[in-house]
Formats: sequence, C-alpha cells, structure tokens
Amino acid sequence: MSAFIVLGAQWGDEGKGKMTDYLAESAEVIVRYQGGNNAGHTVEVDDKQYKLRLIPSGILHEDKLNAIGNGVVIDPKALFEEIDYLEDLGVKINSNKLIISDRAHLIMPYHRTLDALKEKARGKNDIGTTGRGIGPCYTDKVERCGIRVCDLMHKEVFKDKLEQNIQMKNEYITKVLGGEALNFEEIYEEYLKYAERMRPFVQDVSVRVYDEIKANKKVLFEGAQGMLLDIDYGTYPYVTSSNTTAGGVSNGVGIGPNMITNAVGIAKAYTTRVGKGPFPTELFDETGEWIREKGHEYGVNTGRARRCGWLDLVILKTTTRVSGLTSFAVTKIDTLAGLDKIKICVGYNFNGKVIDYFPASLEDLAKCEPIYEEFDGWDESVSNARSYEELPENAKKYLKRIEEFTGTKVSIVSVGPRRDQTMEIAEL
Ligand code: GDP
Ligand code: IMO
Ligand code: MG
Repeated sequence: MSAFIVLGAQWGDEGKGKMTDYLAESAEVIVRYQGGNNAGHTVEVDDKQYKLRLIPSGILHEDKLNAIGNGVVIDPKALFEEIDYLEDLGVKINSNKLIISDRAHLIMPYHRTLDALKEKARGKNDIGTTGRGIGPCYTDKVERCGIRVCDLMHKEVFKDKLEQNIQMKNEYITKVLGGEALNFEEIYEEYLKYAERMRPFVQDVSVRVYDEIKANKKVLFEGAQGMLLDIDYGTYPYVTSSNTTAGGVSNGVGIGPNMITNAVGIAKAYTTRVGKGPFPTELFDETGEWIREKGHEYGVNTGRARRCGWLDLVILKTTTRVSGLTSFAVTKIDTLAGLDKIKICVGYNFNGKVIDYFPASLEDLAKCEPIYEEFDGWDESVSNARSYEELPENAKKYLKRIEEFTGTKVSIVSVGPRRDQTMEIAEL
C-alpha cells in the first residue's frame, strides 16, 4: 500500500507540476486535494509545453486516473476551458481518466466579482490574489451557503441555492462594494450547461480513492500553492484560503491520515513569491533580477513577475515539521548555474536571539534578519547531469546543507524543465 503527497515547500511555483508529472509515471491515481485554478503549472514533455491549472498534473499520461477531491474549489468555466485546451493539444480526457468529487464547492461568477471588488476595497492592504474567486468561494463553504457539485446535479436544488445566493450577493456587491448586480437567469442557464457536461465525471472521490489504496494502487496526492500560503501556517493574511500542507489531504480527499506513507516537499533551489506579503530573503538587487530572467520567473496564471530571493532553510525546516516531510525534491539548481557565490539563509536574528522557525506575527517577522552562509557556485554543465555522481561538487555541497539543516533527505534533483532532466537519488 502506498499513497504519497507531493507539495510545495515554499510560496508556490516550486515545480510541483513537473514533479507530479514525473512521479505520476510510477503512480496509478493522481489526486488534487485543495486550491483551484489559482494554481498554474507548466509541464514540459518532449518538446511540448502544457499549462495546467485545475486538472491534476497526471493527466498527460495516457492510462492514469486523475481525481479532483472535495477540498478543491471548481470553476466549471475554467475546468471546461482547460479540458478543451488539453484536447486541442491531443490529450484525451474522459471519465476513465478524470473524476470529480460531488462534495467539491463551485466557484460562481459572483465569487470572481467579489474577489476583484474586495481587493479594490482593501486598497493598499490588498493581498494580491489571483482574482479567480478562490477566497470568496471558500468563505461561502465555511459560511455554509456554498453550492457544491452535487447541488448542481439537481436542477431544483441548484436553482434554490443560486436564487438565495444571488439575492444576498447582489445586495452586498451593489450596496457595500459599489459593484454591479449579477443576473440570475444568465448564470442559471450557463451553469445548467456545465451540469450536463460535468455529470459523467462526478462521483464520490473519497470512496474511490479509498478503494484504490486498499487495492494496493499507488496514489499520488498533488498539492497546489505552497507551505507559506497555507491558511493556518502561512504568512497570514498574505496566504491562500486552503490548507496547502499535508494536513489538507485527509480533509480534502476524505481518507484517513494513516493511509499516507510519504510526503515529498518540492523546493526550488532559491525562493520566489507572487503577490504581496513578507519575504525575508528577497533580493532587490541585480542578482534578484538575474535569477528572475534566467529562471523565467513570471506567473503562469497572471503573468506577474515573481519576487526572487535566496534559499531560506527556515522555510524548509518549517515545511518538514508541519507536513511531516519524508524527503525533498530540489528543482531548478540549473537556474543558479553561473553565479559565483550563492547564499542560503540558516536562521533569523530576532530580538537578539537566533530562531529557526516562522513567527506567527508579521510584525515579529519584519524584525527577523536572515543569517546567511555563502557557497561557491557551479556551472551550466549541471543541466546535463543525470545521476548524483555527475553533479558538480559545489551543487552536492549545497544539497547536503539542505539535508543537514532540515534533517530531511533530498530524494530527487531536477536540473531542467523536462521530464528527462530529473534524477532520483534516494527513496521518496
Ligand atoms: P508549480 O506551480 O509548482 O507547478 O510551478 P510552475 O510551473 O508555476 O513554475 C515552475 C517553472 O519552472 C515551470 O516553468 C517549470 O517548467 C520550470 N521548472 C521545473 N523544474 C525545473 C528545473 O529543474 N529547472 C528549470 N530550469 N526549470 C524548471
Ligand atoms: P501554484 O500551484 C504562487 C498566491 C497569490 C496571492 C495569494 C492569494 O502554481 O504554486 P488566491 O488567488 O489564492 O486567493 O491568492 O496566493 N497564490 C500563488 N502563488 N503559486 C500559486 O499556485 C498560487 N496560488 C495562489 O499570488 O499572493
Ligand atoms: Mg505555479
């Protein structure tokens, strides 16, 4: 029995899509458990590039089952746009390859409207969301007025819930936020079409995944976003609205934690962040600019430039603790190739003490000064390495330091965007 998690160990965009696609080769079922189409993954297979948002990154394999769990928020418009986009690229999608939880919540047009209007109302305190309606949809889930996939499958139930929601949302949108009212009929008609297209994919994902694990199938749980965007353990309020950490799997799929055997944290060899919020090792100089250009650090979803900085081991240690990581997959060490000196943060000076965890208060975090160790760099030959032995000595030292500091081994090293630019150096 083997069920393992692949999750982001930093602020997202660590290369989870690439690693999931790679690891899906040896899995039979790939399951998304949280987030929605705020995620943006670029996956390269041979000479083709695919951009995935909502659909699990196992979809590029012919014979794998991909599941969207109840913890995911689904925008049906985005879902079908993504299915059409993938089919245009020759990826076949049917209910043997993709299933959707009947308990997942739906992103409605008013969630997108609310996301935009609330960000505007926050003014200089905006979060910098992706504008996909993620936060407002999870808000309705917790408020208990959300609309689930199973509701959409029942025309009358859906109609009632939509009527109630539209009425309340329109009051709030027009009277509090100064926006324009949404039209019930238009949304109702639009979603009834989605309902019929979605119906063949809908089932109880908890039951299905449980049965697959019990039948000794290998299941991969694919996280979106990353550790520090977690609603509880991230840099709140500059976070997303779901549990991106390993704890999210159990609730977001409906299986017991004892069924999960391993958790692999995907860590970029440096750190990036999109949107606002604290970032202790951020670089504001030309090295930061150099990393952004060399690593093509621009968002898949919104095209925004990603903020770049040195690798922060305080973050990786936090992920190890919160998500119970069994190993790291380190990506993009090729991007750092060519730098003479590379820095790693190994703690923060905070009020005269050295700490190696993230304080809850952003005011305290602002006082934290990173403590750096400096490493000698490596050259471009790193992209051609296909085994640990072929890696430059300085890159090996860098990886060793990650293992030493976090107490967690590195199991995979990625030296380029393609599937074949990946080496497994230890068990997951
Ligand atoms: P995700 O959201 O975690 O899946 O990451 P993104 O896809 O948003 O961003 C990671 C980017 O880095 C993508 O464009 C990947 O193709 C690319 N990538 C992944 N691993 C590597 C690597 O080892 N080296 C390089 N150069 N690019 C990589
Ligand atoms: P992947 O899966 C990086 C960030 C947004 C914003 C905050 C809240 O590609 O790693 P939201 O729209 O979720 O309410 O935005 O979270 N964010 C991401 N940053 N990668 C992601 O996904 C992200 N998904 C959301 O930029 O700061
Ligand atoms: Mg991404």
